[in-house]
Amino acid sequence: MSPTLWRVEHFDEIDSTNTYVKDRAHEAEGLVALADFQTVGRGRLDRHWEAPARSSLLCSILFRPVLETTQLQLFVALVALSTRSALERLSGLRVALKWPNDLVVGGDKLAGLLAEIVSSGEALAVIVGIGVNLTYDGPADVASSSVLAQTGLTIAPRALLDILLEEIDSRRALLDDQRGRGALRDEYLRALATIDQQVRVEQSDHVVEGLAVGVDHEGRLLVEVEGEVQTFAVGDVVHVRAHEDHR
Ligand code: BTN
Repeated sequence: MSPTLWRVEHFDEIDSTNTYVKDRAHEAEGLVALADFQTVGRGRLDRHWEAPARSSLLCSILFRPVLETTQLQLFVALVALSTRSALERLSGLRVALKWPNDLVVGGDKLAGLLAEIVSSGEALAVIVGIGVNLTYDGPADVASSSVLAQTGLTIAPRALLDILLEEIDSRRALLDDQRGRGALRDEYLRALATIDQQVRVEQSDHVVEGLAVGVDHEGRLLVEVEGEVQTFAVGDVVHVRAHEDHR
């Protein structure tokens, strides 16, 4: 598969880059919306995502997969791993992933991903939005940090986006066949700080506590609860015991 023809559209201000790309979900794969500032930035589970102008990488990417809707989490894995590699290339910072959608450093949130699916008939589009704290440490009520706080470096959002798109290009073809998806899952497992942690999985109607033992072929989290492995496709995860930074 040849590298994606990325089409980056840059906005000084927009409501939400995810909403913008979602409205253009019929277009070809490779549309990227990048914003300096969002007036209605959206997070997971209907939360807001706020960041001062030019303090963060705020972007959304359109993919057109030949996959089942159940494999949405694999796109999250693809973009999260690519963001992690891009950050390491630009700043040397070692970042771990926290299932389902966060990048963390020493337990503090550095970035979050919001993935959405649009389907019309046979055609399927996946939009993955990324918010990376570059010079802003995140809201006070969330244990969070920034690349600046961690490394002393000020990275421009566009510089990070360019490397991120290269990293996605180097992995994108993996999603097109079963063997590639297996390789991506292996990289995902190695990067996930959640594995081998005692976790609390919080869903809208119930909370479960157990040991995170892996992810399945769709990227769902496997948690051992009283000797039985349960599978979670969604949910907020709390790492119950503080852990060493995962490498
Ligand atoms: C989360 O951790 O809750 C996910 C946050 C995702 C935020 C990004 S910022 C760019 C893109 N546009 C949005 O409105 N949200 C995502």
